[in-house]
Amino acid sequence: MIIVKNTVKITKGEAHKLTDRFQQTGLIDSFPGFIDLDVLINRKEGDTDEVIISTRWETFEDFSRWLGSDEFRQKHKHGKKQPDFIQSSVITTYDVAVSRKSIVQKENVS
Ligand code: HEM
Repeated sequence: MIIVKNTVKITKGEAHKLTDRFQQTGLIDSFPGFIDLDVLINRKEGDTDEVIISTRWETFEDFSRWLGSDEFRQKHKHGKKQPDFIQSSVITTYDVAVSRKSIVQKENVS
């Protein structure tokens, strides 16, 4: 299992402009090998905030296939002309060495 994070530097106070775009189901959600994603905000001191899109995949090959897919292209059509509030973007890939979850039984809320 791997985690790939896209760390995006955003103009202070404008993180919601990016995070809002992730509220709805997109094209990644049914892509083979995709497990889940979190969109995180780091409200930093200074004049930028950080939004981290953290995605979890079965294998690096699955992520690579998505990166080369029409599904990725369709959601990144902005190409080189990215939205004004995005200042920079850094991609980091991690192997998941250990993963643990709570063993407390959660109540079934249906
Ligand atoms: C320069 C690089 C990138 C920039 C500036 C960027 C920015 C964006 C933006 C603005 C959207 C929203 C599109 C919309 O309005 O629907 C988006 C979608 C997305 N981005 Fe990126 N992105 C970049 C590369 C990546 C990479 C390498 C990843 C891998 C972690 C990633 C993960 C995602 C995901 C998961 C979505 C949602 C796709 C979906 O819902 O199907 N992005 N990105």
